[in-house]
Amino acid sequence: MTQTQQTDLALLAFAREAQEKAYAPYSQFRVGAAIFAGGEIYQGCNVENAAYGSTVCAERGAAMRAVMGGQRFFDAIAIVGDSDAPTVPCGACRQFLAEFNPEMRVVMGGATDAVMVMTLEELLPEAFVRGYLDQDVSRDG
Ligand code: THU
Repeated sequence: MTQTQQTDLALLAFAREAQEKAYAPYSQFRVGAAIFAGGEIYQGCNVENAAYGSTVCAERGAAMRAVMGGQRFFDAIAIVGDSDAPTVPCGACRQFLAEFNPEMRVVMGGATDAVMVMTLEELLPEAFVRGYLDQDVSRDG
Protein backbone atom coordinates (compact mmCIF):
# COMPACT_ATOMS: atom_id res chain seq x y z
CA MET A 1 0.00 0.00 0.00
CA THR A 2 1.09 3.57 -0.75
CA GLN A 3 0.83 6.57 1.57
CA THR A 4 -2.22 8.80 1.06
CA GLN A 5 -1.54 12.31 -0.24
CA GLN A 6 -3.66 15.45 -0.19
CA THR A 7 -4.25 15.19 -3.96
CA ASP A 8 -5.62 11.65 -3.46
CA LEU A 9 -8.29 13.02 -1.15
CA ALA A 10 -9.12 15.76 -3.65
CA LEU A 11 -9.61 13.18 -6.42
CA LEU A 12 -11.67 11.06 -4.04
CA ALA A 13 -14.02 14.00 -3.53
CA PHE A 14 -14.70 14.07 -7.28
CA ALA A 15 -15.40 10.34 -7.18
CA ARG A 16 -17.84 10.84 -4.31
CA GLU A 17 -19.61 13.53 -6.32
CA ALA A 18 -19.87 11.12 -9.28
CA GLN A 19 -21.19 8.38 -7.02
CA GLU A 20 -24.31 10.51 -6.46
CA LYS A 21 -25.15 10.03 -10.13
CA ALA A 22 -24.94 6.20 -10.03
CA TYR A 23 -27.79 4.32 -11.68
CA ALA A 24 -27.89 1.12 -9.62
CA PRO A 25 -31.54 0.06 -9.17
CA TYR A 26 -30.66 -3.66 -9.14
CA SER A 27 -27.64 -3.95 -6.85
CA GLN A 28 -28.18 -0.71 -4.92
CA PHE A 29 -24.38 -0.56 -4.90
CA ARG A 30 -23.42 2.90 -6.07
CA VAL A 31 -19.94 3.48 -7.45
CA GLY A 32 -18.26 6.72 -8.51
CA ALA A 33 -14.90 7.20 -10.20
CA ALA A 34 -12.71 10.16 -11.10
CA ILE A 35 -9.69 10.05 -13.39
CA PHE A 36 -6.91 12.66 -13.35
CA ALA A 37 -5.37 12.93 -16.81
CA GLY A 38 -3.69 15.82 -18.64
CA GLY A 39 -4.54 18.13 -15.77
CA GLU A 40 -8.26 17.43 -16.15
CA ILE A 41 -10.80 15.44 -14.14
CA TYR A 42 -13.13 12.92 -15.75
CA GLN A 43 -15.94 11.42 -13.70
CA GLY A 44 -17.97 8.27 -14.13
CA CYS A 45 -20.61 6.26 -12.28
CA ASN A 46 -21.93 2.73 -12.64
CA VAL A 47 -24.88 2.41 -14.99
CA GLU A 48 -26.84 -0.82 -14.54
CA ASN A 49 -29.17 -2.48 -16.98
CA ALA A 50 -32.16 -4.85 -16.79
CA ALA A 51 -29.96 -7.22 -18.79
CA TYR A 52 -27.50 -7.34 -15.88
CA GLY A 53 -24.48 -8.21 -17.99
CA SER A 54 -24.86 -4.99 -19.96
CA THR A 55 -23.99 -2.97 -16.84
CA VAL A 56 -21.06 -0.57 -17.18
CA CYS A 57 -18.76 0.05 -14.21
CA ALA A 58 -17.95 3.55 -12.97
CA GLU A 59 -14.26 3.19 -13.83
CA ARG A 60 -14.89 2.32 -17.44
CA GLY A 61 -17.44 5.11 -17.73
CA ALA A 62 -14.82 7.59 -16.52
CA ALA A 63 -12.17 6.09 -18.81
CA MET A 64 -14.44 6.47 -21.84
CA ARG A 65 -14.94 10.14 -21.04
CA ALA A 66 -11.20 10.70 -20.56
CA VAL A 67 -10.41 9.15 -23.93
CA MET A 68 -13.18 11.21 -25.51
CA GLY A 69 -11.45 14.21 -23.96
CA GLY A 70 -8.30 13.34 -25.89
CA GLN A 71 -6.40 11.66 -23.06
CA ARG A 72 -4.15 8.65 -23.58
CA PHE A 73 -2.30 8.64 -20.26
CA PHE A 74 -4.08 8.55 -16.90
CA ASP A 75 -2.11 9.71 -13.85
CA ALA A 76 -4.57 8.50 -11.26
CA ILE A 77 -8.07 7.20 -10.64
CA ALA A 78 -10.19 7.43 -7.50
CA ILE A 79 -12.98 4.93 -6.87
CA VAL A 80 -15.70 5.09 -4.23
CA GLY A 81 -18.34 2.45 -3.55
CA ASP A 82 -20.99 1.74 -0.93
CA SER A 83 -18.87 -0.88 0.86
CA ASP A 84 -17.48 -0.27 4.35
CA ALA A 85 -14.00 -1.23 3.18
CA PRO A 86 -12.53 0.79 0.29
CA THR A 87 -13.99 -0.46 -3.01
CA VAL A 88 -11.44 -2.07 -5.32
CA PRO A 89 -11.82 -2.04 -9.11
CA CYS A 90 -13.13 -5.26 -10.67
CA GLY A 91 -10.82 -7.38 -12.79
CA ALA A 92 -12.22 -6.18 -16.10
CA CYS A 93 -11.71 -2.55 -15.07
CA ARG A 94 -8.12 -3.23 -13.98
CA GLN A 95 -7.39 -4.57 -17.45
CA PHE A 96 -9.23 -1.69 -19.13
CA LEU A 97 -7.30 0.91 -17.13
CA ALA A 98 -3.91 -0.75 -17.68
CA GLU A 99 -4.18 0.31 -21.33
CA PHE A 100 -3.72 3.93 -20.24
CA ASN A 101 -0.86 3.51 -17.74
CA PRO A 102 -0.19 0.23 -15.93
CA GLU A 103 1.46 2.20 -13.11
CA MET A 104 -1.34 4.66 -12.44
CA ARG A 105 -2.22 5.57 -8.89
CA VAL A 106 -5.45 3.99 -7.66
CA VAL A 107 -7.18 5.70 -4.74
CA MET A 108 -9.96 3.67 -3.16
CA GLY A 109 -12.64 4.75 -0.73
CA GLY A 110 -15.89 3.42 0.69
CA ALA A 111 -18.67 4.41 3.04
CA THR A 112 -16.23 5.22 5.85
CA ASP A 113 -13.19 7.53 5.97
CA ALA A 114 -10.84 4.60 5.26
CA VAL A 115 -8.71 5.18 2.17
CA MET A 116 -6.44 2.72 0.40
CA VAL A 117 -3.89 3.77 -2.22
CA MET A 118 -2.14 1.32 -4.51
CA THR A 119 -0.65 1.32 -7.99
CA LEU A 120 -2.47 -0.48 -10.78
CA GLU A 121 0.66 -2.61 -11.15
CA GLU A 122 0.08 -3.87 -7.61
CA LEU A 123 -3.57 -4.62 -8.36
CA LEU A 124 -2.83 -6.25 -11.73
CA PRO A 125 0.74 -7.54 -12.00
CA GLU A 126 1.94 -8.55 -15.45
CA ALA A 127 -0.94 -6.84 -17.24
CA PHE A 128 -1.48 -7.72 -20.88
CA VAL A 129 -0.61 -4.46 -22.64
CA ARG A 130 -0.08 -3.39 -26.23
CA GLY A 131 3.63 -4.16 -26.16
CA TYR A 132 2.74 -7.82 -26.52
CA LEU A 133 0.90 -7.12 -29.77
CA ASP A 134 3.66 -4.88 -31.16
CA GLN A 135 6.24 -7.65 -30.84
CA ASP A 136 7.23 -9.60 -33.91
CA VAL A 137 6.27 -13.02 -32.70
CA SER A 138 6.89 -14.94 -35.90
CA ARG A 139 6.59 -18.46 -34.65
CA ASP A 140 5.30 -21.70 -36.05
CA GLY A 141 1.57 -22.10 -35.63
N1 THU B 1 -19.09 -1.90 -9.99
C1 THU B 1 -18.38 -0.85 -10.46
O1 THU B 1 -18.94 0.15 -10.96
N2 THU B 1 -17.03 -0.91 -10.40
C2 THU B 1 -16.34 -1.95 -9.85
O2 THU B 1 -15.13 -2.00 -9.97
C3 THU B 1 -17.06 -2.97 -9.10
C4 THU B 1 -18.49 -3.10 -9.46
C5 THU B 1 -20.56 -1.83 -10.07
C6 THU B 1 -21.16 -2.74 -11.10
C7 THU B 1 -22.54 -2.94 -10.54
O3 THU B 1 -23.36 -1.89 -10.98
C8 THU B 1 -22.38 -2.82 -9.04
O4 THU B 1 -21.11 -2.21 -8.83
C9 THU B 1 -22.42 -4.13 -8.29
O5 THU B 1 -21.53 -5.04 -8.83
